[in-house]
Amino acid sequence: MKKNYLFLISAFTLVFVSGSLLLNAQTSKPNPIPDDLKVIFKNSCMACHSDNGGGMAKAKLNFSKWDTYSQEKQAKKASSIGTVVLKGTMPPKSFIKSHPEVVLSDEQKAAVIKWSESFKND
Ligand code: HEC
Repeated sequence: MKKNYLFLISAFTLVFVSGSLLLNAQTSKPNPIPDDLKVIFKNSCMACHSDNGGGMAKAKLNFSKWDTYSQEKQAKKASSIGTVVLKGTMPPKSFIKSHPEVVLSDEQKAAVIKWSESFKND
């Protein structure tokens, strides 16, 4: 009798734990880009990385399609965005020469890097 009781408790615990895990997986949807960062990406990146862009840039990272990316893909892309902004490899130097207005200020860089790091806790 005591054994049965224990079995019931562990069965209930199992159902409860797996149920809440499932619920968690369902509710963690992809994250839209916050408005202040949208402005930055629009000014500095979306000439290339959007439906209006083209070629390699659009294929590798398309901000117009961000909301359709899976959470995993968003986390990966956010991490590479943080890296290129930190290193200053994006926007490309050749593009900056003819479009100096796309250069990110230090504040903008910090905001992008902070945002990209927020994905690591997901
Ligand atoms: C003049 C066009 C242009 C602009 C503007 C531009 N990029 Fe790019 N970007 C490219 C091209 C082309 C590639 C692909 C070739 C490469 O990796 O060098 C690329 C690659 C990348 C990648 C690597 C993607 C991957 O998954 O491998 C990231 C991340 C990126 N860009 C982020 C940015 C960010 C953030 C900005 C704005 C701050 C930006 N880019 C602005 C042209 C651009």
